[in-house]
Amino acid sequence: MKKVLVTGGAGYIGSSICHALSDKGYTPVILDSLVQGEKSFIDQFPFYHRDIGDKDVIKEILEKEGPIDSCIHCAARIIVPESVECPDLYYTENVSKSLKLFKELIDNNFKKIIFSSSASIYDASLNTSVTEKSPKNPISPYARTKYMTEMILEDLAKRYQISGISLRYFNPIGADPQMRCGAYAKDPSHVLGKLVSVYLKKQKTFYVTGTKWPTRDGSGLRDYIHVRDLATAHISALETVIEPGFSPLNLGTSHGVTVYELIQAFEKVIGSQIAIEKTDPRPGDVAGCVPQISLSQKILNWTPEYSLETGIRHSLEWAAKWFPE
Ligand SMILES: NC(=O)c1ccc[n+]([C@@H]2O[C@H](COP(=O)([O-])OP(=O)(O)OC[C@H]3O[C@@H](n4cnc5c(N)ncnc54)[C@H](O)[C@@H]3O)[C@@H](O)[C@H]2O)c1
Repeated sequence: MKKVLVTGGAGYIGSSICHALSDKGYTPVILDSLVQGEKSFIDQFPFYHRDIGDKDVIKEILEKEGPIDSCIHCAARIIVPESVECPDLYYTENVSKSLKLFKELIDNNFKKIIFSSSASIYDASLNTSVTEKSPKNPISPYARTKYMTEMILEDLAKRYQISGISLRYFNPIGADPQMRCGAYAKDPSHVLGKLVSVYLKKQKTFYVTGTKWPTRDGSGLRDYIHVRDLATAHISALETVIEPGFSPLNLGTSHGVTVYELIQAFEKVIGSQIAIEKTDPRPGDVAGCVPQISLSQKILNWTPEYSLETGIRHSLEWAAKWFPE
């Protein structure tokens, strides 16, 4: 069984990728420091409880596992307010350590690096549908670390003739369809997580933060992609022969959804109404943007399959399993 190195494989997205890989006959080899994430999601896979910044960590893994030539690099700090509070930590963890990791992968003959990038690198104030070439304007230190790491990967991929694929995720939702892993944070900061918290009565009211954006109903616009569809795109990126060099690709659905539309879809799934209150935008909030995905569809021969309603249903099913009371 072909082995694939997955950094951050104990995390929300990484664990979903590991199960999707295993379902397709690959063996994910996981490198994760467990600064976040949940080890029990991925107990059946080879696991290295190490930091991506550790000296010679790749060499050690290869000595035990044998040759591996592809890496999916998900490991990162991901909390935007924390990145504002501690930008130096984020630049060290996400940028410096990724540079060190990339060089070690290249020195150990890896030919493909698939990087978890983010829609937050785009200029979301324009309220447009973005292609991979659209203007970038990462606002938070977190988003800047993603953009900087992309630039590092671009330069290294060109210089060392490896395939550097940067997958720009929009808003992942849902859980593994077989309920083997999912979101594990107790106080989720993203919009669907907050709706689930209200439904599970952990929170009284859902706050619509910002209602005067230049969108069709004034609320923020996002593009929600099922985490299993994200995972499948990584497998396509592994299996597709992609020329050496840098390939940035959007991963979303291209069907933008406003916060009010998300609430409506959520209410349809649960069959009851959610208490909402309108408030001002939070610092750093933006109108939002929606991806064009024709390039990913063409290059990866991939298309997202799960609907918004299924993503909501899987999030609820997972929350009932993971947070039973
Ligand atoms: N969740 C989102 O909404 C979203 C959106 C766009 C992009 N992304 C990107 O996807 C990737 C995965 O995100 P997630 O939501 O699964 O986050 P997560 O926090 O659940 O997972 C990240 C994993 O990386 C590990 N990790 C962090 N720093 C490490 C280090 N120095 N060495 C080894 N392991 C380390 C953590 O322990 C954790 O298991 C991240 O790179 C993130 O920037 C996430």
